[in-house]
This record gives sequence, structure tokens and C-alpha cells, in this order.
Amino acid sequence: MVPKVVFSFFLNFVAILVLLLPQTADAQGLKIGFYSKTCPKAEAIVLQEMTEVIKVAPSLSGPLLRMHFHDCFVMGCDGSILLNSSKNTAEKDAPPNLSLRGYAVIDRVKAKLEKSCKGIVSCADILALVARDVVRLTNGPFWQVPTGRRDGNVSQASDALANLPPPIANISSLKASFSSKGLNTKDLVVLAGSHTIGTSHCTSFSNRLYNFTGKGDSDPALDKNYVAALKKKCKPNDATTLVQMDPGSSKSFDNGYFTQVSKRRGLFQSDSALLQDPQTKDYVLNKASTSFFKDFPVSIVKMGKIGVLTGNKGEIRQHCALVKLIIIMHSS
Ligand code: HEM
Ligand SMILES: *[C@@H]1O[C@H](CO)[C@@H](O)[C@H](O)[C@H]1NC(C)=O
Ligand SMILES: *[C@@H]1O[C@H](CO)[C@@H](O)[C@H](O)[C@H]1NC(C)=O
Ligand SMILES: *[C@@H]1O[C@H](CO)[C@@H](O)[C@H](O)[C@H]1NC(C)=O
Ligand SMILES: *[C@@H]1O[C@H](CO)[C@@H](O)[C@H](O)[C@H]1NC(C)=O
Ligand SMILES: *[C@@H]1O[C@H](CO)[C@@H](O)[C@H](O)[C@H]1NC(C)=O
Repeated sequence: MVPKVVFSFFLNFVAILVLLLPQTADAQGLKIGFYSKTCPKAEAIVLQEMTEVIKVAPSLSGPLLRMHFHDCFVMGCDGSILLNSSKNTAEKDAPPNLSLRGYAVIDRVKAKLEKSCKGIVSCADILALVARDVVRLTNGPFWQVPTGRRDGNVSQASDALANLPPPIANISSLKASFSSKGLNTKDLVVLAGSHTIGTSHCTSFSNRLYNFTGKGDSDPALDKNYVAALKKKCKPNDATTLVQMDPGSSKSFDNGYFTQVSKRRGLFQSDSALLQDPQTKDYVLNKASTSFFKDFPVSIVKMGKIGVLTGNKGEIRQHCALVKLIIIMHSS
């Protein structure tokens, strides 16, 4: 009797193991063309919407690429950056959100997808596809996006603060931050190249221009002539002016960022910091010009796998700003 029970437990155990195995063996559960059967037009719909958006509002390319980064670094790439604050303050409303715009674009893409294939495409995948399309539409490289992410249901401002490196970060804290997400030093310098598109508020770097060490000075790591030019654009306490991070080609995804950094014209301390580590410095000065377009897809695909929910974890939201549970409660 007893051995029989034990044996049946054992069989159950094996059965459970066998059930679990396929999932653990493919822990990430992401694959290229995840929607090819369930929503074959998904990627074409995203591209079509993004082509229209970037044509009429090219300045949204920066914030939309950045959104995928912020999503992935906080709680994993689970679309939590898109959730509205409810009883708690969401990531969206945390201080690092400066200039995170474009939520309406994501809502518009999601609405189109829901119309074609209801409840199939996750908001987290939309962010990854939109980031890819933004880069190709600004003349950057193209890559295949592994999809199959599902959406999370938690979003907390404090998590954003704790997980997003600030623009004053030095090279060791940048490396530590990326490493804590499974990204290496090469990924750091390559992904920083995203600053080749988009703009920044003066407030993200004005500490470098005025009173850097409390003696009315500026950051010695920043080119003197560039300091003078930036001071003309950004008066003390200017909280609204936007400055291009790769001046003159901030709507074009190219090598320009690395040229800027190499000339000591990287806008943030975190950009200048890339000259303080032998590996990142070598990349900026010697490698970026020939291999950035080859390297960027590799690193952003890696970033897009951070802490993903797949299989039967998480959910597919109906509206990217709301967890499904709340919608169910409202409509019942
Ligand atoms: C290495 C650490 C990083 C730091 C400290 C950092 C910091 C910042 C800051 C402070 C801004 C300006 C926000 C504003 O004032 O409006 C910015 C903009 C931007 N960041 Fe980063 N970033 C980092 C990495 C990344 C990564 C990995 C990506 C994408 C994969 C990215 C994409 C962007 C883009 C596209 C913009 C322009 C946004 C716009 O046009 O509104 N950044 N970043
Ligand atoms: C989310 O919040 C924004 C800004 O507060 C608001 O405009 C939008 O309607 C909200 N979305 C939903 C679905 O409640
Ligand atoms: C950014 O966060 C602040 C609070 O820190 C909030 O008032 C503001 O609405 C947020 N901005 C965006 C674009 O979400
Ligand atoms: C880098 O920044 C961190 C966090 O602010 C700080 O603890 C550390 O001492 C700094 N390292 C160097 C070398 O300045
Ligand atoms: C510069 O910083 C020092 C030390 O924090 C402060 O005493 C001084 O008032 C600041 N000057 C300006 C112009 O803000
Ligand atoms: C949120 O998701 C977790 C895990 O995916 C789940 O256990 C939990 O019940 C969900 N909470 C709500 C409020 O949906």
C-alpha cells in the first residue's frame, strides 16, 4: 500500500516534471514571428502606424525608443511603463519620466491591433516593435524582434527611481546598473548610442554648466566651447528648453553620438563617462564607426529579454494604460 502511494506520487512527480520541462527548457519563451499564426498582420500594422506617426511627428522617435528602455529596466519588459497610476504612483509618473512622451501613439497602435486581433498582442511587445520601427524609420539598422512577451500588472514609481541610471551616473555605477540587468559593458556603450536621436531637457545636464562643484564652475569633462554654446541655449533653471543630443542629426539614427562623445561633447555625465573606461572608450573612439549598426540590434534584442513574462504568466491587456482586472470590474 505504502509503496504504491509513493510510486503514484513518484509518477505524478514525473508527470509534473514533464509538463514543466518544455517551459523551463525555453525559459524566455520569446521567438521571432510569435504572432505569425494568431495575428499575422501584427508587425505590418505596427510599421504602418509608426510610418504615419514618424512622418508627421518625427520628434516622437526619441521618446518612443526610450520607452522600451525604461520599460525593460523597471520590472522587466512587461509594459508596466504604460500603466496609469491608480492607488499608487506608477512608473510613468516617477521623476525619471522627463520627456517620456508618446503614450498616445502606443494607445493608437494598440487600438489598431485590437481591431484586427482582439486580445492577442501584448503592450510589452508593442513597445519592442515600436522601438525597432523607430530606428529603421530614422535610417538606422533593422532587426527581427523576438516576441511573445506578456504584460505585467504592477507599476511603481519607486521601482523606476531605483532601476534607471541617472544622467549624473559615473562609469562604475552605469556598469553596475547594466550588469544587474544581465547586460555587459559592450551593451552599455552600444545602447548609449541611442542618444544619437532625440532631445534632452536642460535640467538633465545644466548642473554641468553652472556651479558644477559649487564654485561657479562647469564640468571639466565637457568641451569648453560646447559649454559656452549650451549656456546660450540653457539659462539657469530653464525647465522647458529641449536640446538635441546629437546636434544637427538628432532625427537620424547614425554614428553621430559617438563622434560627439569622442569630442568631449556628450551631453550627460553618463555620456562623458564612456571615455573613462578602457573598453567603452575604445568602442567610442575606434569601433563605433564601423560596427555600431551591427552591434545595436544584438544589444537591444538582449535588452528586450530582461525579465519578460511568457507562457501563461502575466496577461494581454486590452488597454495599455490599464490592467485587465480593472477593465473586467468596470464592464461587469
Ligand atoms: C546609459 C544610461 C542612460 C542614461 C543615464 C540615460 C539618460 C537619459 C536622459 C537624462 C535623457 C534626457 C531626458 C530629458 O531630459 O528629456 C535621455 C534621453 C534619451 N534616451 Fe537615454 N539614458 C541612458 C540609456 C539609454 C538607453 C539604453 C536608451 C535606449 C535603448 C536610451 C534612449 C534615449 C533616447 C532615445 C532619448 C531621447 C528622448 C527624447 O527625445 O525625448 N537611453 N536619456
Ligand atoms: C491614463 O492617464 C492619462 C493621463 O492622466 C489619461 O489621459 C488617460 O485617459 C488615462 N488612460 C486610461 C485608459 O484611463
Ligand atoms: C512625470 O512625473 C510627474 C511627477 O513626478 C508627473 O506630474 C507628470 O505628469 C509625469 N509626466 C508624464 C509625461 O507622465
Ligand atoms: C560612482 O557613483 C557612485 C554612486 O553615486 C558612488 O558611490 C561612487 O563612489 C562613484 N565612483 C567613483 C569612482 O566616483
Ligand atoms: C553655487 O554653489 C554654492 C555651494 O553650494 C552656493 O553657495 C552658491 O550660492 C551657488 N551659486 C549659484 C550662483 O547658484
Ligand atoms: C498580478 O500578476 C501576478 C503574477 O503574474 C498574479 O499572481 C496576481 O494575481 C496579479 N494580480 C492582479 C491584481 O491581477
